[in-house]
Amino acid sequence: MDEKKTLYSAIQPTNNLTIGNYAGAISNWLKLQDDYNCYFAIADMHAITVRQTPAELRQKTLATLALYIACGVDPQKCCLYIQSHVPAHAELCWVLNTFTYVGEMERMTQFKDKSARHAENVNMGLMDYPVLMAADILLYRAQYVPVGEDQRQHLEIARDIAQRFNNIYSPTFTVPEGLFLKVGAKINDLQDPAKKMSKSAENPNGSIFLNDGKDAVIRKFKRAVTDSGAEVKYDPVNKPGVSNLLSIYSIFAKKSIEEAEAEFAGMGYGEFKLAVGETVADSLAPIQAEQAKLLADVQYLNTVLKNGAETAARTAAKTLYKVHKKIGFYQI
Ligand code: TRP
Repeated sequence: MDEKKTLYSAIQPTNNLTIGNYAGAISNWLKLQDDYNCYFAIADMHAITVRQTPAELRQKTLATLALYIACGVDPQKCCLYIQSHVPAHAELCWVLNTFTYVGEMERMTQFKDKSARHAENVNMGLMDYPVLMAADILLYRAQYVPVGEDQRQHLEIARDIAQRFNNIYSPTFTVPEGLFLKVGAKINDLQDPAKKMSKSAENPNGSIFLNDGKDAVIRKFKRAVTDSGAEVKYDPVNKPGVSNLLSIYSIFAKKSIEEAEAEFAGMGYGEFKLAVGETVADSLAPIQAEQAKLLADVQYLNTVLKNGAETAARTAAKTLYKVHKKIGFYQI
């Protein structure tokens, strides 16, 4: 019998993923895949809320899958699939829309940010983004959702929608809990450590992409902003730059912050930055090689996706059926 709890997460296939995505999502999934019944989706339906180039979206979707697997996400243990391959996401989203208020969506921080950044295309999908995300999670009756800090508000709304529905009808949805991992949940920009590392930062030197070569990685770390003083110490308030580098190191060297601090005690900033850069570059190299190998075997990747979509669709259909029944949709 499968006693494992269910865990759900998804990642958008757009742009290059940064080490922030790795730390905030992928690396955490690796630790969770043995203990939970895991679903990991590639959220292509979320991606199109911002205009995409079709050929690029297609290529990045496959590259993202290959990257997950290259990082160690095991398709034998987890259900890996593409969101648009399971129509139940769109179907449940529609129903949940009728349990969500326009005002709530207008108040979402990410919606406000993205509306400002994409003022020429404030489409309904952009506004509906959190409801689709709620549908993703609720379809699989997931107990846990590991996400980055930036998704906290979206997770709250998913919980609200689930509870609202359950209260109006009867317990139908599992109310999901976010897993916000402390270290690594947030990696900041190397040039502006007050900001989260982002794939779309103004200054590309502030972000390390998972497909950056060793030279690029070292160069960016060498240029990373540090703080006044000379001590390598974890103090996010007074030393945001150094603390960010320590967090990054702790994640990639798989050491605690305390261990990292001890290791760099007495070392100058220059030497410290180089060491962090080398650790990150050396961690990325094998992942990049494995990703390239997987991308050369599209047939294998397609098989993973086909199996994933079948498994996902089976679970999703059960939830959707229950929902349709409760709201009074006539069933044959
Ligand atoms: N919105 C999430 C992000 O950009 C991706 C996502 C889509 C997601 N659906 C989800 C994450 C469901 C967790 C659960 O990071």
